[in-house]
Amino acid sequence: MNPRMKHIQALAAGLSLAAMLYPLAAQAGDTTAASQLAQWQTQAGAPASVERGKMFFSSKHGNDLSCTSCHGTPPTAQGKHASTGKLIEPLAPAINPTRFTDTAKVNKWFTRNCKDVLSRECSASEKADVLAYLTGLKP
Ligand code: HEC
Repeated sequence: MNPRMKHIQALAAGLSLAAMLYPLAAQAGDTTAASQLAQWQTQAGAPASVERGKMFFSSKHGNDLSCTSCHGTPPTAQGKHASTGKLIEPLAPAINPTRFTDTAKVNKWFTRNCKDVLSRECSASEKADVLAYLTGLKP
């Protein structure tokens, strides 16, 4: 094999290794459901409520959708996207430990989904309540 080929082969091996490691790194996460709950609760300045979270999650807020429209009732099971029909892995961290482990993902989807359901961002206290409800769910 000529040196140029060897170089390309080494490069390709390096790239596929990086591709293999990337999902691991992305999955390792930078937060936990418990610290997300603590963070929103601190920001809200009041204790979160499981009951309020449950109500909030399963109610409509002026639009056609509730959180349960896509995440199911209860969100310990697989959900189904209300418009695309795509399956959604369970949202409760006791069943799906990858949930609430990636700050960027949590923020992106809270923003997007709250806009769909409430036509606004969720408040810190609403997010704390949702986290209290979801982290309290057992398999
Ligand atoms: C129109 C469908 C839809 C609705 C309604 C919806 N979601 Fe989602 N949600 C998704 C999809 C799709 C994802 C991203 C795919 C995935 O993570 O499985 C997601 C992901 C999330 C995540 C990311 C969790 C993580 O760390 O993995 C959070 C938090 C979330 N949703 C909260 C909510 C809340 C709270 C509501 C109600 C205000 C809501 N969702 C309503 C479709 C929806």
